[in-house]
Amino acid sequence: MGREGSTIHQLFAYHDQIHRSVEDIPGGIRAITESDNPRGATLIQSHVSRMYARLDQQDPIPMIGMSATLPKMIQANRKYQRQLHKTAKGIEIIETAINANMVMMIRDHAREVTQFVEQGMPVMTNRRMRGYAQ
Ligand code: HEM
Repeated sequence: MGREGSTIHQLFAYHDQIHRSVEDIPGGIRAITESDNPRGATLIQSHVSRMYARLDQQDPIPMIGMSATLPKMIQANRKYQRQLHKTAKGIEIIETAINANMVMMIRDHAREVTQFVEQGMPVMTNRRMRGYAQ
């Protein structure tokens, strides 16, 4: 599965030590995702910077089928802006777009990441089993 797939698994293992806040801003979101555990903080930082690099280079995303929102995001990877700033305990990101559908997509993905953090791996499995109809 490779290094990135294993980072994602470890993020799930640390999910109850990760906290996250998402704020809607004009055109998108601002999200802060952090962990008081230094290992958790490092995992968040390396996950997001690697995923952003993959989007920039149009490289495949590991485990993409497990996300309801990512397939659309990678197709639109040049149609929204991503900014990343490391914090002492994790990462702050700003994602914005002009197009209203893109803005919705950004916010949907942010909500999915929040569910991953709050509920860990099971929500992902459930969602995958029942599809993403709702
Ligand atoms: C506990 C599990 C996870 C955590 C804590 C996490 C954390 C994050 C964070 C903080 C971001 C930046 C965007 C934002 O803050 O809204 C992000 C983006 C991303 N994540 Fe994850 N993630 C998790 C699971 C996953 C999984 C399962 C996948 C792959 C299926 C994945 C792939 C990506 C990709 C491709 C991006 C870049 C897309 C974008 O925001 O533009 N992540 N993740």
